[in-house]
Amino acid sequence: MVDKIKQLLEEVDAFQAEKLAEVEDFRIKMLSKKGLISTLFNEFKTLGPEDKREVGQQLNVLKNKALDKVNNLKTQIEERVNQAKSSDKYPDLTLPADFTGSGSRHPISIVRNQINSIFEKIGFVISEGPEIEDDWHNFSALNFADEHPARDMQDTFFVEKNPDIALRTHTSSVQVRVMNSQKPPIRTISPGRVFRNEAISARAHCIFHQVEGLYIDKGVSFADLKHVLDHFAREFFGADARIRLRPSYFPFTEPSAEVDVSCPFCKGKGCNICKGSGWVEIMGCGMVDPNVLENCNIDSKVYSGYAFGMGIERITMLKYLVNDLRLYFENDLRFLRQFAPAY
Ligand code: DAH
Repeated sequence: MVDKIKQLLEEVDAFQAEKLAEVEDFRIKMLSKKGLISTLFNEFKTLGPEDKREVGQQLNVLKNKALDKVNNLKTQIEERVNQAKSSDKYPDLTLPADFTGSGSRHPISIVRNQINSIFEKIGFVISEGPEIEDDWHNFSALNFADEHPARDMQDTFFVEKNPDIALRTHTSSVQVRVMNSQKPPIRTISPGRVFRNEAISARAHCIFHQVEGLYIDKGVSFADLKHVLDHFAREFFGADARIRLRPSYFPFTEPSAEVDVSCPFCKGKGCNICKGSGWVEIMGCGMVDPNVLENCNIDSKVYSGYAFGMGIERITMLKYLVNDLRLYFENDLRFLRQFAPAY
């Protein structure tokens, strides 16, 4: 019996397990009612009193060791399983994914895309030009007189003087590039950034965005211009929007006009935004000056055309009531998030 106890002690010492089920099998084998250790206890009852003392001690040691082993292994395995569950090493691939949030378009981009698509649907093609322009494309070809104030350093950011290279002050410069490189009929819109030497405030900024429109063909008239602007206003501001044209002056158009739209907030009744007039100005336009056509090698006796130009910030302000131009450039998430699509 002493040998048997020794052998079992060795077995208990050597026993290792990876799974709880193995530990339980071991417990049943050793410690259950019919297990090896319990059987030894039964045999122990049959021993004489002298043997009982020695064997009894050893039997108790064996039983306690077996109990400790079972308990220790159990806790070890349970700990390992819990750790594995919580560690990154074993992610639960069946869990639903976390929504990390997505970005959204800048309001200027939203409105630019909308303007683009309104004109694209009626046959206008998008064209772009450089932000750094020479004097010819930004001023001279567009019929600006030599002494025009826009040519002054106070109004324009010059990169170089003589020859004059400047940050374009308007997207009308793209008109010149398109007319120089394409033959009529030309139907194009040119969105882009423009730069002016202005002190930054709620109502003025040195960087802003414009969309330029140009249509050149045989027999293009002022009525065509009015019609396309009316269409734009209804598409952008809603079917009840109206436009009106006021005579104005631009060096590159003759005649020229300023375009007002019926106030989108009060529907023409008069409010703070339209300063009670019921109208808000949205762009400049006119018939392309024959001088400009000739400067771009287009025969002004055969072709005529119209042009228009609008500020995207201004149109965005009328859509979203953003009353401070600086907000467009600060990238404050509290501002930008208001334009995120709702999920
Ligand atoms: N370039 C003008 C500006 O920056 C806007 C403009 C007015 C563009 C009349 C045009 C136009 O094409 O015909 O203020």
